[in-house]
Amino acid sequence: RPHFLSAGDLNPPAALALLDLADEFVAHNRAMDGRPTLDLMAGRTVVNLFFENSTRTSSSFEIAAKRLGADVVTMPVTASSVSKGETLIDTAVTLNAMKPDVLVIRHSASGAADLLSQKVGCAVVNAGDGRHEHPTQALLDLLSLRRAFGDVGGLTIAICGDIAHSRVARSNVALLSMMGARVRLIGPPTLVPGDADRWGCEVFHDMREGLEGCDVVMMLRLQLERMAGDLVPSTREYFRFWGLDREKLAWAKPGARVMHPGPMNRGVEIDSDVADDLSVSLIQDQVEMGVAARMAVLAALSLRNDGAVR
Ligand code: CP
Repeated sequence: RPHFLSAGDLNPPAALALLDLADEFVAHNRAMDGRPTLDLMAGRTVVNLFFENSTRTSSSFEIAAKRLGADVVTMPVTASSVSKGETLIDTAVTLNAMKPDVLVIRHSASGAADLLSQKVGCAVVNAGDGRHEHPTQALLDLLSLRRAFGDVGGLTIAICGDIAHSRVARSNVALLSMMGARVRLIGPPTLVPGDADRWGCEVFHDMREGLEGCDVVMMLRLQLERMAGDLVPSTREYFRFWGLDREKLAWAKPGARVMHPGPMNRGVEIDSDVADDLSVSLIQDQVEMGVAARMAVLAALSLRNDGAVR
């Protein structure tokens, strides 16, 4: 079975095909709020298995699958037998025995989705594994950018803040670079991985220097739950140096657009004044594009190369 585990599973033609399909789903979703549901996944079952909290990814996968006509089971992990000690693999193998067509998984361990894909007979979609990858987030970000700018080739995109703990950063660096964007990483030395200079990006430890000439400023959530508390002296100090407000945004290109994968820490990595200004912020577009991008991924996993239902 094909899986979608990493941004590296795509190549430019495959990514463009998914974006074209997603554009069709955006039009469908905007017309009559996605009704009637499509039948591309009629009779198929999608299982959502989220071992970490989620608002956007979990609900958009559920909505996406339903709009394609699939049956959806969203497992409340805290109410499942995981709370009795059942392992990830045993949980997945048990669900696999019920013959789902797609398993969407989020887990705190890097590599969890890949491991699972080797144990089950259905397609596996990585909805975020530790700090490793979040490929559907990168796809929806690419979709949002293509709709805002027409093409990401030649854009300079700054990914800012807590790069070290960010699966969004890793997937976006891979996909945006593959599609011809120049990607910069900006953050304090404690929050930029030591090997980041080998990611094919320019690395900056100063917001003013890094933002100069950028078309897009993608802010990342400060992931306090993944750090030992002593990496950031205080969130107030973090905002002063690294939080995006009007003053810092003015260092980027005039007309630069702002992104954030959510959830946002307002007043920590981004100021509400910037986040809520729809003339610069793409954040709500990103949420809308999440449904269409995930519809495209689920549909692609359900279709054969000739376009027939698999
Ligand atoms: N962007 C993102 O993955 O959000 P959730 O954690 O709410 O799914």
